[in-house]
Parts: sequence; C-alpha cells; structure tokens
Amino acid sequence: MSDTPKAFPPRIFSGIQPSGGLTLGNYLGALKRFVQAQDDGTETIYCMVDLHAITVWQDPAKLRHATRELAAGFIAAGIDPARSILFNQSQVPAHAELAWIFNCVARMGWLKRMTQFKDKAGKNAENASVGLFAYPALMAADILAYHATHVPVGEDQKQHLELTRDIAAKFNHDFGVEFFPIVEPVIEGAATRVMSLRDGTKKMSKSDPSDMSRINLTDDADAIAQKLRKARTDPEPLPDTLDALAERPEARNLVNIYAALADITPEDVIAQYAGQGFGTFKPALADLAVDKLAPINAEMSRLMQDVAEIDRILGDGAARANAIAQPILEQCYDIVGLIRAAR
Ligand code: TYM
Repeated sequence: MSDTPKAFPPRIFSGIQPSGGLTLGNYLGALKRFVQAQDDGTETIYCMVDLHAITVWQDPAKLRHATRELAAGFIAAGIDPARSILFNQSQVPAHAELAWIFNCVARMGWLKRMTQFKDKAGKNAENASVGLFAYPALMAADILAYHATHVPVGEDQKQHLELTRDIAAKFNHDFGVEFFPIVEPVIEGAATRVMSLRDGTKKMSKSDPSDMSRINLTDDADAIAQKLRKARTDPEPLPDTLDALAERPEARNLVNIYAALADITPEDVIAQYAGQGFGTFKPALADLAVDKLAPINAEMSRLMQDVAEIDRILGDGAARANAIAQPILEQCYDIVGLIRAAR
C-alpha cells in the first residue's frame, strides 16, 4: 500500500429508519442537511433503512406505511428523486450481502461497546435480536457499498460512523488493499442533537412515550404551537451570551431549534432575543416552526394520496443504487476470494 491514502470521489450517503414517524430531530439533524448537500451539487444517495427497522419487531402493515411516509417526508423536505438517489434498503441486495462480509470483519468487542445497542436492548440484552447486535455492520455496509466518502448524521450516530471507519480500515488491512474509503462523518449545524421538549438532557426521540416531548413532521400547526408553548423552560430571560446557557439545557435547546429553523447561528438568536423572557420567545419560535414545517406537512399528506407513485420512485432509485453497489460488491467478493462465474 502507498503512504498517501487513495482519493475517492466525493459521494454522500445517509439513511433514516422507517420506524415510527419523523421528528423535528430527524428533520433538523438529518433531512434538512440532506437537502443542503443535494443542492450543493454533490452526488447524494439517501436510503430508507427498512432492514434496520426490523431489528426490533415491526407490524408489517405499519412498516409499509412508515416507509412510504418517510419517502414522502424526504421529498416534501426538498429531496428531488431525479437529483438524489432515493430508495428503500431492502430493494438493493448488496446491503445485506456486504453486511455479511462485515460481520466477519467486525469484532465482538467492537459491537459490544455500541451505546445504541445497550440503550435499545436495555436490561434484556439476552432477548434482543441478533440483528440488533449486528446492526452497525449493516450500517457500515450501507455506506461502503457505494464507496461513499461523507455521511451527514446527527450526533447520536457518531459512534456508528467510527465503527464504519474501523471496519473499512480492518478490511483494507486484512486484504492488503485500499478498497473501502475511510468515511467522514458530517455532524454540523446548530441542531446536531435536538433535545426532548420535556427534558433538556434527553434526546428528542420517536420512541419517547410522551408525544409532548417531540414535534412530529405529521403534527398540524396547532399541535406544533402548543407543544412549543408548553415546552419545559426556566423562569429566567434569555442571556446575552451563549455561554450563560451552559447550565440551562432546555433554554439552549430552544435557541438551537430556532437557529436551525431560521438558518442562522445560535449567537444570532441570542443577539436578537437577549433580555426577553420565554413569554416572547416561545410564541416567536412557534410561529417560525409552523411557518417552516406546515408546508412540509401539507406536501407529505398530498404525496401520501398516491402511494403507487411513491413506490415507483423507490423502485427507480433502487435500480440506480443497485447499478453502483452491485459492481462494488462483486469486487469485494473477488478480493475476499469468493469465486464469481464468468458472465
Ligand atoms: P435514525 O433513523 O434514528 O435517525 C435518522 C437521522 O436523524 C438523526 N437524529 C437526530 N438528529 C438531531 N437530533 C435528534 N434528536 C435526532 N434524532 C435522530 C440521526 O442522527 C440520523 O442522522 N442508524 C441510523 C440509520 C442508518 C444510517 C445508515 C445513517 C442506517 N444506515 C447509514 C447513516 C448512514 C439511525 O438509526 O438513524
């Protein structure tokens, strides 16, 4: 191997699970940034990771609905299926096939350290599916099947992306090749970790039992406004520096949400609202959120009227994704020593 790492052309890949609906966290931490990446002109590949979703039990009818609704969310948020490749994971066999190779590269000790597995499996790890444990190897396969170089995600996926880098490096090392790129996580912006509206120390999540803790992209204007007005805060007005919010997680979260929705920095928000109480700030935030999210919500509902069209878009995306991933998988098999018949 040469000393200078091989340069791979820039290609962005990311995925979202179709388990439950989309939250404001998914939107600001991921979707909105996926649209920016697409609009910047880099090649973008976005995936509804249905094989990841089934690592915990999913009702089949609900899974189908959630996958289509997620596709509608991508498109409503600004993903153009002509410019980005948009598809569901299970339609491209290379993901599952490459995941098997990576199951044989990743080490038990690496996977045992994954905090998402510990959180999701909880105290009952013995009863968790093998798929839930092996999940990060499938995630590495999602990315590396395309030789993707950059992966925009929220903060909670950082550890999985470090594992993806470890898997790529170990594969390259074990086989003496520079076949897989060492991917760069792209964790940027004001809202890489949107917190619960009820508890500023917990991540906003679709699995939180309290619906008041999150904003769903399917919430109507009244629900969005009500949830933001009732969001937990403290009695102090907003300070004039961001540092002064260090011990005020709920206030900091609302400032970050405002900044991300308005495409400004948290410092700009503070400059605008220093000295104002939440009686002023929360209604302003609610108006901004409704303004930005209501059109997405309306467009999602419109797109969901025609699921055949959504399925067609996903099928088309899968064919384009397959055309990239299948040759990479074949080369990988060849490197490993698996015989491919001449075709
Ligand atoms: P998932 O489906 O849990 O979340 C999708 C994306 O949304 C981000 N996100 C958040 N960002 C900020 N604040 C929050 N509260 C918040 N909640 C979620 C996540 O960081 C993520 O970017 N394992 C992944 C899916 C996946 C994937 C991949 C991602 C599978 N294969 C390959 C990238 C590349 C997951 O469960 O994301």
